[in-house]
Amino acid sequence: MKPIEIVLSIPGRPAVDYPILVGANLFAVKAWLPKTAISQIVIITDNTVEKHYGAQLLGALQQAGSACLLLSFRAGERSKNDTTKRRLENAMLQHRCDRSTLIVALGGGVVGDMAGFIAATYLRGVSYLQIPTTLLAMVDSCVGGKTGINTPYGKNLVGAIYQPMGVVVDVNCLKTLSKKHRINGLVEAIKVFLTYDAASFRYTVLHLSQMLQGDQALLQDLVIRAIKIKAGVVSRDETERGERSVLNFGHTMGHALEKASDYRVLHGHAVAYGILVEATIAYLLGLLDQQALNEIKVCLAQLGFHGKDLQSYDVDQLIEITKGDKKNQVGQVRYVLLQDIGRVQFTDGVYVHVVGDELVRQAFNSLISKDH
Ligand code: GLY
Repeated sequence: MKPIEIVLSIPGRPAVDYPILVGANLFAVKAWLPKTAISQIVIITDNTVEKHYGAQLLGALQQAGSACLLLSFRAGERSKNDTTKRRLENAMLQHRCDRSTLIVALGGGVVGDMAGFIAATYLRGVSYLQIPTTLLAMVDSCVGGKTGINTPYGKNLVGAIYQPMGVVVDVNCLKTLSKKHRINGLVEAIKVFLTYDAASFRYTVLHLSQMLQGDQALLQDLVIRAIKIKAGVVSRDETERGERSVLNFGHTMGHALEKASDYRVLHGHAVAYGILVEATIAYLLGLLDQQALNEIKVCLAQLGFHGKDLQSYDVDQLIEITKGDKKNQVGQVRYVLLQDIGRVQFTDGVYVHVVGDELVRQAFNSLISKDH
């Protein structure tokens, strides 16, 4: 399959435009290595991805003539903190990485957030490339420049929006991905389609079992559909003043679940439950009809997510956590509300709406008391 290139452009800032290349066998670096002067390349990755692709990418970059260094940290959301960031930065300082250093983020969402945030702050900013290796990073986090780390107060509370100079999506990386991580990414793609594209949502549902089995062509198609939508959203609202917040559908409750589980639940899995709760809130508000809610429940049940699984959580604790979410103002929790599959509520010029605690409790309780 021929690689395709999607360009993300931000109006009024042509210097920031960057290509997102999606295809197979892209570790042959000639296709994408920037032509700009680079003093050295620092690959930032985690110990799991390093085992699969570290030597391969390092070798390819060295063969292309670049001085190259690989730094890795322990895989997992719990490493995404200031201690890891400091350790990596100190290693770069020790190796005298200068302002012409190019950072390559090789890995999933955690690596992308960490490497991107280091790029944003190291010597006040160096260039970086995203090479996502998980489906979750391919369909969502590699695009749009959100970078950051977690703090004891919540997820992604310190960070920056800092765009990469390019994104290289090699779908061959999906071959080493476990089913659990495929599901993780499928949920983020489903989130994008639920908010923007009913046809892609139904297409995904139709092919879900093949995608779950790792059908490469279908997954590549899914990645392209999701990236095209996301690139459009980011180009219209890079800094999340308005429309970009739609991409947080399922994330208000999802982030709370992740934090309540001390990040043992994977991000996409937590978002799946977040989607169930937040779609149910929209249903209870009379915005989303029963049929659409059922379609969503059936789709997520196929991926193994059922409302009754939420029994093990304390809804009041979750509500408390949602109040610390960075998207909120003085204790008022705001949600993206679905009006239909592929359409969110946009009223009074806003995409996020205050929902009272009682309604959140009601949605939660209705999910745990039913079969789905
Ligand atoms: N992951 C949502 C966003 O990038 O805005």
